[in-house]
Amino acid sequence: MQYGYFDDTRREYVITRPDTPLPWINYLGCEAYFGIISNTAGGYSFYRDARLRRVTRYRYNNVPLDCDGRYIYLRDNDTGTFWSPSWQPTRHNLEEYVCRHGLGYTVIGSVCKGVEAQTRYFVPLGESLEIWQLTLTNRREEVADLSIFSCVEFALWDAQDDATNFQRNFNTGEVEVEDGVIYHKTEYRERRNHFAYFACSEKPTGFDTQRDVFLGPYRGWDSPAAVERGQSFNSVAHGWSPIGSHHVKVRLKPGETRQVIFLLGYHENPKDRKFDPPGSQQINKETVKPITEKYLRPGVVDEAFEALCVYWDGLLSVYQVQTPDVHTNRMVNVWNAYQCVATFNLSRSASFFESGVGRGMGFRDSNQDVLGFAHAMPERARERILDLASTQLETGGAYHQYQPLTKRGNDEIGGDFNDDPLWLVLSVAAYLKETGDRSILDEPVVYESRPGTEQPLYEHLQRSIQYTLDRLGPHGLPLIGRADWNDCLNLNTFSDSPGESFQIATSRDGKVAESVFIGGLFVLAAREMAAIAGECGLAEDARRYLDEAAKIEAVVLEHGWDGEWFLRAYDDFGQKVGSRECEEGQIFIEPQGMCISAGIGLDDGQADRALASVKERLATPHGIVLHQPAYSRYYLHLGEISSYPPGYKENASVFCHTNPWIVIAETMLGNGDQAHDYYLRINPSAREGISEIHRCEPYVYAQMIAGRDAPTYGEAKNSWLTGTATWNYVAITQWILGIRPAYRGLQIAPVIPTDWPGFEVTRLFRGVTYHISVERAGKGNEVSLFVDGTRVEGDIVPSPAEDQTEVHVRVVLS
Ligand code: GLC
Ligand code: GLC
Repeated sequence: MQYGYFDDTRREYVITRPDTPLPWINYLGCEAYFGIISNTAGGYSFYRDARLRRVTRYRYNNVPLDCDGRYIYLRDNDTGTFWSPSWQPTRHNLEEYVCRHGLGYTVIGSVCKGVEAQTRYFVPLGESLEIWQLTLTNRREEVADLSIFSCVEFALWDAQDDATNFQRNFNTGEVEVEDGVIYHKTEYRERRNHFAYFACSEKPTGFDTQRDVFLGPYRGWDSPAAVERGQSFNSVAHGWSPIGSHHVKVRLKPGETRQVIFLLGYHENPKDRKFDPPGSQQINKETVKPITEKYLRPGVVDEAFEALCVYWDGLLSVYQVQTPDVHTNRMVNVWNAYQCVATFNLSRSASFFESGVGRGMGFRDSNQDVLGFAHAMPERARERILDLASTQLETGGAYHQYQPLTKRGNDEIGGDFNDDPLWLVLSVAAYLKETGDRSILDEPVVYESRPGTEQPLYEHLQRSIQYTLDRLGPHGLPLIGRADWNDCLNLNTFSDSPGESFQIATSRDGKVAESVFIGGLFVLAAREMAAIAGECGLAEDARRYLDEAAKIEAVVLEHGWDGEWFLRAYDDFGQKVGSRECEEGQIFIEPQGMCISAGIGLDDGQADRALASVKERLATPHGIVLHQPAYSRYYLHLGEISSYPPGYKENASVFCHTNPWIVIAETMLGNGDQAHDYYLRINPSAREGISEIHRCEPYVYAQMIAGRDAPTYGEAKNSWLTGTATWNYVAITQWILGIRPAYRGLQIAPVIPTDWPGFEVTRLFRGVTYHISVERAGKGNEVSLFVDGTRVEGDIVPSPAEDQTEVHVRVVLS
């Protein structure tokens, strides 16, 4: 069953009924001001940091679901009936409804009582504000006398405090209302020099800023007293819960259309010019007025929208493909690339499942996000890499996360995840291959944000590698630390206190439990490091890293191989995890994917055997599950992984992040059919037809799909902000389609399904546009390369002459 459809030409997902199984969201903003918006206008906004600069309030896990948003009410002044053109919060029957989620914008349109209302929401480039562009059309035969009420509920900035500290917060709320503009200025009197504003292009006949006056006692968003009676109360908030609501009256002749613009924004004033007149307590509005005046003009708004479309077009045009498969095309060309940008911008902070308060930017997560993003905005990838590296510890270790506002490491959700530092090597390698910009390696970068500790980025990478080598366990495999990629495999925790955080508690000294997964990741990272050193002419270093990789590879093959697949780990008792000897959790996906990606077992058949075991034991029609059998009870020595009921999250769900590792591994063995088959099992577009089972958005990946052990097998959760986006993008674009940036040029090594006659790609790489056409002449993956008509040996298209900006590449596969 579907709740909408893809409009591929307009690059929109069109939702055709408001009652989707879950709120289906989109993101507004791509620089500093962000918002999430659902298909019924639910959601919230923030400036840079979803926790520390929350502009509007949102109640997660609310009843009814997804209430608090960017609301507009329409009221027929003749009859007194009112409704929400975005369906929520009044949920009146709408005669027509459509929501178009596009790239950086959402349009919600409906018809009710003969009044057509369409609102386009977006954040203009370069601004810290969002626009709601409402277009009303009277489709009745007679005049429509209408009231429009806008409404947002302000958050008192720190979202965590806002949701908990009521003894203070019920007293601090303050607003100003001037010329119809509502200013939210809680704490402006003291240490904040920022405020929010909510403006309207029409002169309002009234306003409200105190929530409980607007709603009336014991009433909800579905029936505000002001809307019901048809007149604002002009309330001014002192404490309690400040909101912003305008009341605008419009009379529309039959067929007449009117546009009303609302602006919601965030603004900072210079510390010494906060107040006007100086010495007063009033906001100095001179600095913000030019902005509001500008964006209340429809012409300017239309231009800003055009500019946003051009921006997205530019980002996506870096990689465009035409294959025989529609799901591949629309994910690569639009949605997966788009999700990679959102994930890169927000890490795991703010989605319908991530409340914006718990987590900053993850070290591991953000480094992986670079892999799916470096081609789109290399300068921002560079900046991100340097930000991440500057939180690194002198030991080479890492804070598990940092706050984007301060860019400082924060250990509130723990440290000592021993895989963390290695991901930095992968992100830097991806950046270097994409851009060829070796200057980043010489960039002086501090440790732990401490001035005076600067070392070149290259040194940081060396320490990342050394960090693993300094922490080898009894078998010579890397010690796992708090956990590795699988946050929930907590082999040193032994937690038996309810509610204790598995991410923070530890009770073992951590000198025994080892991770085969980190072994694989190390081999991959050390080989990347050797290549980086080689590119820099540091032959000695390159040799050393290859040696270290070979040593760990040998250990993985000796102590990390279970006979038919790679082991997962050794626990604190030195017992195997992920072995046929185990009662439960006999085989895990992660080490199969990571070890093979690193090239382990390719020569002697282990890789083939491991993948056959994955197919036999882990692959399901809804994707490949993390492990089998699922843990049916809690194991003290395994930790959080066994805390989840079977089939959910880290306990044997289809944790989508890991599936592309298997896809990559399959391509390394030349199995294009199997690789693409796995790719499609979790491809959101390919699952659109089972939306009633999948339940999350069909246009973006979710972190997990319930595994076969779960009663809700096939149901997705945690959509949007997940490493799944990056890794699927890498797997399809670089490994199945096979177009990979390499140090010496663009490599083209497709491993596609046997029944594809070929495909076409346009790829912008280091300033040159490559028009690539791949044709199948035989069933294999052998590449014959023709560059601008001339046969070239190997599979790398060498960089063209300085002045050449277009290259035509023909690839024949046989
Ligand atoms: C979450 C985390 C990620 C981790 C994964 C598996 O997605 O953000 O860092 O690797 O879970 O536990
Ligand atoms: C929980 C989640 C896991 C996530 C971790 C980090 O353990 O299950 O997916 O990575 O929290 O916060």
